[in-house]
Amino acid sequence: MYQVFSKILFNTEVSPTYYKMGLDCPEIASRAAPGQFIMVRVSNQWDPFLRRPFVIHRTGKANTKGEKRCSDCQLEILYKVVGKGTEIMSEMKEDDEIDLLGPMGKGYRIDTNIRTAILVGGGIGVASLFSLAENIILQCSGLKSLLLFLGGKGRDDVLCVEEFEKLSLEVRVATEDGSLGQQGVVVDLLLDYLKFGDYSPGSSTHCFACGPDTMLREVSKITGEKSISCQISLEARMACAVGACLGCIVKTKAGGDVYKKVCKDGPVFDSNDIIWK
Ligand SMILES: Cc1cc2nc3c(=O)[nH]c(=O)nc-3n(C[C@H](O)[C@H](O)[C@H](O)COP(=O)(O)OP(=O)(O)OC[C@H]3O[C@@H](n4cnc5c(N)ncnc54)[C@H](O)[C@@H]3O)c2cc1C
Ligand code: FES
Repeated sequence: MYQVFSKILFNTEVSPTYYKMGLDCPEIASRAAPGQFIMVRVSNQWDPFLRRPFVIHRTGKANTKGEKRCSDCQLEILYKVVGKGTEIMSEMKEDDEIDLLGPMGKGYRIDTNIRTAILVGGGIGVASLFSLAENIILQCSGLKSLLLFLGGKGRDDVLCVEEFEKLSLEVRVATEDGSLGQQGVVVDLLLDYLKFGDYSPGSSTHCFACGPDTMLREVSKITGEKSISCQISLEARMACAVGACLGCIVKTKAGGDVYKKVCKDGPVFDSNDIIWK
């Protein structure tokens, strides 16, 4: 893990309250794996004191054709303004310096025998799935279908559709207000696919999900019933992010009831391992 002062390459609003920030940080970018995160110090003042966690949205390692994007030394985060820390971040400018720690945590495990990969993202949970999609394409030579189900309250909450389509993912969208895609929640898209889709339950079909806990709990239940392997990326309020404060624990089934740390043992877990509250 590295602590670096990184130059901000861009910090652009991509949808109301959602921003994408490009960062020049070779030490972190060159070592980052899909699903890992960075801790960002958003201010030199005492308040906010704690760093904020953001998943590494993409790096330059797996390159996408025909698009201006980051090089090997750079990474991007995608974030939603929800409070003081992210508000301060949204006001940062190109060439400002920002204090980062990373790469942190354990990311997604990509089994190279995957033939069907189903990615499920709720709201800002999509941030975690882009670099995952790129790496699945690179690593899984027998891949037949790569699907992405995206959900949000309204059209402004559904991000990166074009970027995913450029990777040749089949993207399906659901919004609660019906302003984009099918009206409903993202779990409906998953249920529809599992009812009618051409997939084979077993080790060649994998699901990966990131979003609110309510969504992850549903996705875990559905994939469990269908015997589909599923990895989920959990969010927790974090203080130390190195496993010292126990602020981010989650109850798991590993060897009986065991508490694991989202920051160090995760944020990505096998869905079967989690004991939901
Ligand atoms: C491993 C990990 C990866 C993350 N990746 C991203 C990402 O890529 N993009 C992104 O936008 N956000 C991500 N988050 C969430 C992000 O860290 C928080 O939104 C951020 O810390 C909020 O800081 P703030 O000072 O703006 O808000 P605060 O003032 O701290 O909080 C504002 C509101 O947001 C809620 N909130 C804050 N943090 C969290 C959290 N972790 N989970 C649920 N609710 C929270 C608070 O309860 C409060 O209601 C991630 C969180 C984790 C744990
Ligand atoms: S945030 Fe301190 S143990 Fe995870």
